[in-house]
Amino acid sequence: HLQAGMARPKVVVTRNLGAEAMRLLDRPDLDVVAWQSETQPCDKKWLLDNIPGATGILLLFSEKVRREITEDATDLLKVVSTMSVGYEHVDIGSLAQRGIRLGYTPDVLTEAVADITVMLALMAGRNVKETTSIVQNGQWSAYPWAPYLFAGSQLSANWVHPTRTAGFIGFGRIAQSTLARLLPFGFTRALYTSNPSSKPNPARDAELLAKYAPQGLAEIRRVGLAELTSESDVVFVLAPGGPSTYHVVNEEILKSMKRTAVLVNTSRGSLVDSEALAKACREGWIWGAGVDVVDGEPNVAADHPLVQEPRCIVLPHIGSATNETRLGMATMAINNVIAGVLGGSMPAELNR
Ligand code: DGY
Repeated sequence: HLQAGMARPKVVVTRNLGAEAMRLLDRPDLDVVAWQSETQPCDKKWLLDNIPGATGILLLFSEKVRREITEDATDLLKVVSTMSVGYEHVDIGSLAQRGIRLGYTPDVLTEAVADITVMLALMAGRNVKETTSIVQNGQWSAYPWAPYLFAGSQLSANWVHPTRTAGFIGFGRIAQSTLARLLPFGFTRALYTSNPSSKPNPARDAELLAKYAPQGLAEIRRVGLAELTSESDVVFVLAPGGPSTYHVVNEEILKSMKRTAVLVNTSRGSLVDSEALAKACREGWIWGAGVDVVDGEPNVAADHPLVQEPRCIVLPHIGSATNETRLGMATMAINNVIAGVLGGSMPAELNR
């Protein structure tokens, strides 16, 4: 790839992605500048000192370096690769304007995130936060078995609710894998909205019904947000982050949900008004909630309203955190940046 005398293209990697994946960057035809820590974000000065002259930049969704990437980068920059499926932390408009390619890591994390999405729906419905803390605090003896003690809201279909309805705010890969997991639980209806004012899309509905009917789905419709939240037994927040979806789940939406319903957010914290969600759980507008992402993370203190709320499970953004999935994401992100720098096709490129 390199003619004699040509400088090796510089690749800036903003985090140590582990020895196994980083070995992929040990190549004679690249000049790699990598932040050494796996656990601590690179400091902004290090980044701004190294962006100029870079042909490729590999970063994480937690690096909020939108503007600096394009303003401080020289014309040598050909590719940005993010180790994430979400890309609201990258200013894709300015990258596109400058013909800079963007790699990301879809598909490899879909199953891991769908697993934890269903797990949170189960945990929220069955009061796991309240009951595990009773056990952890040695208070079980104060709660002898009783007919309705700790009784929760059942996820699976049952004699009272023979069919269940799943509502999806955002209906991409992760939402569809989540739906596939719910069908054996007796979910025969699905409602989805690609944005708060989605119009019906009978053609797409028919396509999706054909895909999932063999696994038990009887109805699927694209609807507006108000219909979705009033009809669903579980509302899954699975749309991309960014200004257009900010606080799409607010008090009004939460008030319109069933009192027995749960809300699950495994997308981005910015989609949910945390104060409103805590109030909804506290006031009983909904049964409970499970979130893997919180607006302002990781600065979520013990006194955060959701952390304090017994009916809301809060996880620290571990949706894709399995050994297999994170190695897969790191490998994909590295192969994306190598292909972008050397001019090949990328394993996963965001085609704008
Ligand atoms: C993603 O891929 O966007 C996740 O949120 C980070 O693991």
